[in-house]
Amino acid sequence: VLSYPFHGEHQAGITTPAQDRLHFAAFDVDDISREELIGLLKDWTAAAARMSQGGSAGDFAPDAGPYEAPPEDTGEAMGLGPTGLTITFGFGPTLFTTADGTDRFGIADRRPQVLTELPTFAGDMLEERISGGDLCIQACADDPQVAVHAVRNLSRIAFGRASLRYSQLGFGRTSSTSTAQVTPRNLFGFKDGTANVKAEDPAAVDEHVWVAEGDDQAWMAGGSYLVSRKVRMNVEPWDRTRLSEQERSIGRTKGTGAPLSGGDEFTAPDFAMPGSGGRPIIAEQSHVRLAHPDSNGGARMLRRGYNYVDGNDDLGRLDAGLFFICFQRDPERSFIPVQTSLAGSDILNEYIRHVGSGIFAVPGGATEGSYVGARLF
Ligand code: HEM
Repeated sequence: VLSYPFHGEHQAGITTPAQDRLHFAAFDVDDISREELIGLLKDWTAAAARMSQGGSAGDFAPDAGPYEAPPEDTGEAMGLGPTGLTITFGFGPTLFTTADGTDRFGIADRRPQVLTELPTFAGDMLEERISGGDLCIQACADDPQVAVHAVRNLSRIAFGRASLRYSQLGFGRTSSTSTAQVTPRNLFGFKDGTANVKAEDPAAVDEHVWVAEGDDQAWMAGGSYLVSRKVRMNVEPWDRTRLSEQERSIGRTKGTGAPLSGGDEFTAPDFAMPGSGGRPIIAEQSHVRLAHPDSNGGARMLRRGYNYVDGNDDLGRLDAGLFFICFQRDPERSFIPVQTSLAGSDILNEYIRHVGSGIFAVPGGATEGSYVGARLF
């Protein structure tokens, strides 16, 4: 059964081939001491290391341990195996300094400069209750029950120290992070993840994903910054939109995912090629053109998002979209410029709305016997 090592230089769940399922969770830390916070991170690390190998969240199996105590593992993943489970931890800006400027844990001076609340982008309709968070956990697996089990047990372990602020289930990865993977499709029916940073390109990963020694705070070396955006997709109007307009919005074909300038899925787009009326064949306001490194000073990022459907709203519309996640070495050089371009003029904006947002510092991986984030304290 597929499993990924938990310990190592980097946390798993970033360049790891994107699994099929997501359970993402953000937490608010309760009124606890620095020592209690460290204790939580140690407990989370130990449980995550075991679960990612298919083991119990606790020292005992779900059906063992003291008979008159609640089991240390809730049990629903018994027999399922690891199914590629990765658990990735991140620290939000409010862990370092609260909104009123309090340095709860004596780490305010260790907050990386780029770990600040994201700017407000044009068109943002963010809901506070599904944004932010002091801590985050990204659990990905090929079996949804395994991902949910991980978040559920980590929440249980956090009881009295941190409480769940919001969580999001995702299905159907919307990115490939390895050239060995087939490019999946998002809920607009287009291939998503074609031009992603992929694990097989270590130079690009080092340049755009991992924080280097000397970038900012030394404790972040080998880490990355996670930006999450819950993007509601207005699928009903999209589904009534002409195919030509759908392809114009993205700048690629719906079938093969090739750029409108021709070739196959992996042919580089030619933004200068003229189309009808002398205008470029790939519209200037298409998603691909605006998100492309050429339009954003070379900005790239590793996208690792998931589709979601949270039932429907009161108007009978699917409450569906993209839970966008990306990892990068520096959000000020990756997510922020790209989202600024997109928010301004992307044709897609007619069909999408950003409703949730988060930014987290994801430290490097833990060595065996240590815990995630040890270098911060
Ligand atoms: C590319 C869809 C949101 C950044 C693409 C592609 C599609 C797509 C179909 C082309 C295939 C590919 O290269 O992956 C969507 C949809 C979104 C969304 C439906 C919202 C619901 C975002 C956001 C960002 C982003 C919020 C970051 C701010 C990118 C980047 C590329 C891309 C960097 C690759 C551009 C290139 O180098 O050619 N997206 N996307 N996307 N998207 Fe998005």
